[in-house]
Amino acid sequence: MERLVDRLGRPIRDLRISVTDRCNFRCVYCMPKEVFGRDYPFLPRAELLTFEEIERLARTFAGLGVEKIRITGGEALLRRDLDTLIGMLAAVPGVDLTLTTNGALLARKAQALKDAGLDRITVSLDSLDDETFRAMNDVDFPVERVLAGIDVALAAGLDPVKVNVVVKRDVNEDGILPMARAFRGTGVVLRFIEYMDVGHTNGWRLDDVVPADEIVAMIAAEHPLEPLEAQYRGEVANRWRYADGSGEIGVIASVTRPFCGDCTRARLSADGKLHTCLFATRGHDLRALVRGDASDAELSEAIAGIWAVRDDRYSELRTAETADLPKVEMSYIGG
Ligand SMILES: C[S@@+](CC[C@H](N)C(=O)[O-])C[C@H]1O[C@@H](n2cnc3c(N)ncnc32)[C@H](O)[C@@H]1O
Ligand code: SF4
Repeated sequence: MERLVDRLGRPIRDLRISVTDRCNFRCVYCMPKEVFGRDYPFLPRAELLTFEEIERLARTFAGLGVEKIRITGGEALLRRDLDTLIGMLAAVPGVDLTLTTNGALLARKAQALKDAGLDRITVSLDSLDDETFRAMNDVDFPVERVLAGIDVALAAGLDPVKVNVVVKRDVNEDGILPMARAFRGTGVVLRFIEYMDVGHTNGWRLDDVVPADEIVAMIAAEHPLEPLEAQYRGEVANRWRYADGSGEIGVIASVTRPFCGDCTRARLSADGKLHTCLFATRGHDLRALVRGDASDAELSEAIAGIWAVRDDRYSELRTAETADLPKVEMSYIGG
């Protein structure tokens, strides 16, 4: 089969599947309480793709070249019986299966996820300082419970465990060094992420972004770092290793160094909309095809057709004009 590429020559390699738009946190940069309050119209259950529908889509995407699937949300661990879905997806041949979580329920669920066939895991944790962490998740959730989840994930053999840190100027930037110190030599890989202008509810300003170069310089001043080669085309993190061999870190410079040219990611929302860019305003309704009478071949052709005409490169075009365009929320599309 000829490899499916989009208009800019980018293959389809990664699929992110959101399994819920709900979350038990209200991170200030993602689901601010003023917007995601009691009356927020979350998706009704019947709108969500079923596990069977997700599995069918995953197999179709794998047939088109997808090699890596990441389960996300909202908070994926809120989806009931998620380990059953993990088991179904782990059976799709040739696919590396991972999941991003806020870690709140991880201590309870990590072993079952591993047993079901999950390969790796990413935990989002913005600060080790309890007060800062509670303020950022905005539901007063204590940091020790996320750390306990990370420990259980490590013990269960989910390897490597990565920790995502969204850095916001004057909010948690003073926690960068403590994070680096705490996780060096533990096998946990830190990933610092520039705060992005996703959605339209988080009141993003460029001043809030701590550039990746600044983060690397800050850590390197205390613990010398050496750059690592990218492992594959489209790797989003710039990776660095500690010169003394105590592990690696990564920075995701989505704002200061956008990587659209190598973007191989497709995103499926919990209600079955395919988004070809994190910043795409409109999704393609795959659920209608799955719930209609499309055959597997027709479904595959439809997805290939959407990918073939993809030309999104929002982050590279980010300008004053694009700043005001409507965008999807991160909690809906899953990062
Ligand atoms: C939307 S969350 C969904 C998965 C899960 N709830 C979690 O927090 O890991 C996926 C990732 O997006 C990140 N994220 C959310 N809003 C962001 C923003 N405005 N800029 C950068 N990263 C963001 C989160 O920190 C998290 O690592
Ligand atoms: S970043 Fe994750 S944990 Fe935080 S509000 Fe968004 S979806 Fe929830």
